[in-house]
Amino acid sequence: MPAAEAPAPTAPRCNCRAVEFLESSIGKKIMVALAGLFLCVFLLTHLAGNLILFLGGPAFDRYAQMLESNPLLPLAEGGLVVLFLIHIALAVRARLANMAARPVAYQVYKGKDARTPGSSTMALTGTLVLVFIIIHVATIKFQVGGAKGPDLFGHVTGWFHNPLYAGFYVVALIGVGLHLSHGVQSAFQTLGLNHPRYTPMIKALGAAFAILIALGFLSIPVYFGFIVHAPATPPNGAAMPSGPIGGAQ
Ligand code: HEM
Repeated sequence: MPAAEAPAPTAPRCNCRAVEFLESSIGKKIMVALAGLFLCVFLLTHLAGNLILFLGGPAFDRYAQMLESNPLLPLAEGGLVVLFLIHIALAVRARLANMAARPVAYQVYKGKDARTPGSSTMALTGTLVLVFIIIHVATIKFQVGGAKGPDLFGHVTGWFHNPLYAGFYVVALIGVGLHLSHGVQSAFQTLGLNHPRYTPMIKALGAAFAILIALGFLSIPVYFGFIVHAPATPPNGAAMPSGPIGGAQ
């Protein structure tokens, strides 16, 4: 009598809860919210560091050297890249899934303040911020397209002598503010902080944070681009070209 046939091997089923969580729409939203809130912490520390530009070249370059000599910097930079990738990739996937589920936008009256300039432009401002980050990191960190000055202060402020570059920063930073004005309060709601008593407070704090970040960053291109062209401060005191489009004025 022939032996009973062994059952054909079946493909291993993934019981991984983490994958199921990330595939679910709420899982994606939670990850976008968490990554976004961590990125807000980066923005706050990045703003605090960059405001040292107003204290002049030596102070800013001391700060930059202190950062660069920190052995944890590569770890922090790697973490930042991962946070940006999670935030962007999952936000795009959630938006596409949303559009596929509801191909024709329908109008529901949600009250007079349901839609805000921030909430109705999230995809647009998100794309603008992405383009900004690519140009910003390429020009300021990797120094593409501009002469590498002997100091970071001269390099950063020199770029703002270019009115097109400074103007692009102004537009992009308004985009950052709009994105945050909806993103922060929306992230807290996604994480469950949704209560008639606390929601107005969270909305106000989100708006205040967005204004603080936008105005704080905007002060830099506006001041160094359109008000004062800071003289470059090479360590040896010699004159140096102060930016990609010409000398200090
Ligand atoms: C006027 C506004 C800003 C100024 C002056 C500024 C300045 C700088 C400087 C000096 C660096 C370090 C370059 C180096 O390591 O050599 C940097 C890096 C960076 N900035 Fe900004 N920044 C501004 C706004 C922003 C904003 C709004 C964002 C995000 C939306 C941002 C994202 C980044 C990122 C991701 C890096 C790379 C971090 C790293 O890998 O070390 N920056 N920026």
